[in-house]
Amino acid sequence: MKTIIITGGAGFIGSHVVRRFVKNYPNYRIVNLDKLTYAGNLKNLKDIENFPNYIFEKADIVEEEMIFSVFKKYNPDGIIHLAAESHVDRSISNPKEFILTNIVGTVNLLNAAKFLWQDNYNGKLFYHISTDEVYGSLGEDGYFTEETPYDPRSPYSASKAGSDHLVRAYNHTYGLPAIISNCSNNYGPNQFPEKLIPLAINNIKSMKPIPVYGKGENIRDWLYVEDHAAAIDLIFHQGKSGETYNIGGNNEWKNIDLIHKLCEVMDKKLNRARGKSASLITFVKDRAGHDLRYAIDSSKIMKELGWKPTVNFEQGLEKTVDWYLLNEEWLNEVVSGEYRKYYELMYKNR
Ligand code: NAD
Ligand code: DAU
Repeated sequence: MKTIIITGGAGFIGSHVVRRFVKNYPNYRIVNLDKLTYAGNLKNLKDIENFPNYIFEKADIVEEEMIFSVFKKYNPDGIIHLAAESHVDRSISNPKEFILTNIVGTVNLLNAAKFLWQDNYNGKLFYHISTDEVYGSLGEDGYFTEETPYDPRSPYSASKAGSDHLVRAYNHTYGLPAIISNCSNNYGPNQFPEKLIPLAINNIKSMKPIPVYGKGENIRDWLYVEDHAAAIDLIFHQGKSGETYNIGGNNEWKNIDLIHKLCEVMDKKLNRARGKSASLITFVKDRAGHDLRYAIDSSKIMKELGWKPTVNFEQGLEKTVDWYLLNEEWLNEVVSGEYRKYYELMYKNR
């Protein structure tokens, strides 16, 4: 039986990855290692928490000793590393937290893997999940490829770039088997409502203003979260150590156009008059250093591993809206922070 530690498995993307691995690979033992920050929510995994091949381990990747002891306890064959501080706006107001979690946390995991695997790297893999934001910002044309030079421009992307460099350095210097993938903007169920799409859904639902930064002209490439989880599965099993894979949706939207599209879906779902939700659009002060455009060239993963996105944006957006409207309790608890009180009680000694 293989053991895989998935870090950040209680978060948005991590929970989809954990669910996929637990369900598809009953012969793997899946250890979800998560600190349960404000962004981690075990309710994301309610449906699989009693599966025999699933284990939750509450641990902070910044705490070196704690990480070494979890690694010794489970002796993993593979690591899929998603734990991170992930929100750009929070990185602008509190950069240090991002350096600690994203850089120091990643080094601690690399050291623990290197220590555990030093005698035999055969069959082992450290797979680091990163972002397209490390490549900086594009003008109107062009795409990020795996060869695009790094040019991170926010504390978040700088911390992710730092962690990518460290993973490559451990691969090069110590021979640690490692892969990195850099993905574009994800959307779908369970995303914390600080990010554009769930924040807008929540505000539209409660008839609150939808804050659009600047003139809403920034462009992002959106990918449905389960398509990202499928790419991670494929890369983990068939990717080549030392390689980087870019993952994108080939689905660019100007923020303002995306919000209008979302408003149309919400009007329909909530039986509102056409245009009622769009009346909530409010232009607000721009994000500091706001990157203009991200767009990914996914041809390498498509050609070499046969991956492609399967959910088109119209379907994906409807599925996402349906999920948030159906899971009102999840949304209310997350917004009010109610679920945190439960963790404080349950894990009061950690
Ligand atoms: P998220 O913020 O929803 O979840 C992060 C998870 O990490 C949470 O469960 C949190 O509790 C956990 N965590 C945070 N600090 C920790 C620590 N010190 N120790 C242990 N666990 C900790 O993030 P997400 O959006 O799911 O992103 C997951 C990963 O994918 C991140 O590495 C992010 O950089 C990357 N990524 C995200 C996107 C996106 O669009 N969301 C796109 C590309 C790459
Ligand atoms: O590109 C991948 C990245 O996508 C991930 O690495 C990050 O973890 C993830 O948070 C995301 O970063 P963005 O900054 O692109 O996502 P966010 O949802 O915060 O913002 C999307 C766009 O919408 C961006 O141009 C800023 C804008 N925006 C965002 C918010 C929260 C608004 O106009 N209003 C808002 O209220």
